[in-house]
Amino acid sequence: MTTLDNSNDSSPLSLPQDQEMGEMYDDITPKTVEIPEELRYKSKAERIMAVQTERVVLYPRLGEAVNRVLWMIKQKPRSRAPGLIVTGPTNSGKTTLGNWILNAYSQLSPSSFIDSVRPCAVMIELSGLTTQRGVYGRILEQIHAPVDSHARLADRELVVTMTLRNINCRLLILDEAQDVLKTSERDQQRVLDALKYLMNSLKLPVLALGVEQAGKAFDSDQHLRARFSEIKLPSWKDDDDLIDLLASLEPNLLLQRSVNLRTREMVKKLLELSEGRLGYIVDILRNAAIEGISSGMETITPEMLRRPWDVPSHEILDCPTLH
Ligand SMILES: Nc1ncnc2c1ncn2[C@@H]1O[C@H](COP(=O)(O)OP(=O)(O)OP(=O)(O)O)[C@@H](O)[C@H]1O
Ligand SMILES: [Mg+2]
Repeated sequence: MTTLDNSNDSSPLSLPQDQEMGEMYDDITPKTVEIPEELRYKSKAERIMAVQTERVVLYPRLGEAVNRVLWMIKQKPRSRAPGLIVTGPTNSGKTTLGNWILNAYSQLSPSSFIDSVRPCAVMIELSGLTTQRGVYGRILEQIHAPVDSHARLADRELVVTMTLRNINCRLLILDEAQDVLKTSERDQQRVLDALKYLMNSLKLPVLALGVEQAGKAFDSDQHLRARFSEIKLPSWKDDDDLIDLLASLEPNLLLQRSVNLRTREMVKKLLELSEGRLGYIVDILRNAAIEGISSGMETITPEMLRRPWDVPSHEILDCPTLH
């Protein structure tokens, strides 16, 4: 299992020449980063800062989702653009996946838009949207394009499609997809019409993210629904996958003595406290690691595992006092 550093936004790259295209595509294929061993021997303050950095662990199911997304981006545009819905319980890593793809496929700077060849992704939340105009407006805001509030729907549609084409948008990411279901049937249809229009006119693949019922968001439009496959992010339980996940998280904790999160007692307590949610597992371990570093214990014992919101004293985070 590999760990990806989520802390660095990918910086804009200069326009590639045609012959550089192959390299260019390799360049934006997600890379794995090892935690540098020397980080474990840094000061307490530096390690406490570093432990708080979000690092994406690429566990197998997530790896499968990432691969499907990259396939959609890299394959030649198809008239029937494909979609993928990634569902999972709250705090299971859906937005993290969206942001991570977005960082790897960030847009070029505006001055480089014309003739840009580097594919990019755009991400919006579907919460609160009830019209096609709303969908287009949110996309334009997201890519910092001017939004004319008086423009007719057809004009706004034109601006969105032209802009997305110019920046070579090859993936639209929709977070909180289940929120479409909170609106009336008529409003749902309008939002879905906008999405279908973009998928068709730009041959644009879509990654939708949402809780378990998010798949139903597309059910009212059979044509749209038929294009989406689904991957479910897990709720973690006592099995080998969890053991592998914990093994991948251990080096991120930057403790100087050995840590074994994979004992029966640790696993049982972690599952009880986290309810199997990845976000809680990460928070619980991060808090315990910070306590372990600041106290000088340099390890984690089962007693140090507490609910994610039972945090140690905030003064521990006043890092300069720790030198
Ligand atoms: N692959 C991962 N590796 C390590 N940590 C992760 C990973 N995915 C998520 N996390 C941790 O879980 C936290 C919650 O993730 P995220 O906000 O993506 O969940 P979500 O599924 O979008 O939740 P919600 O349904 O509430 O929107 C993140 O802040 C991060 O700390
Ligand atoms: Mg989320």
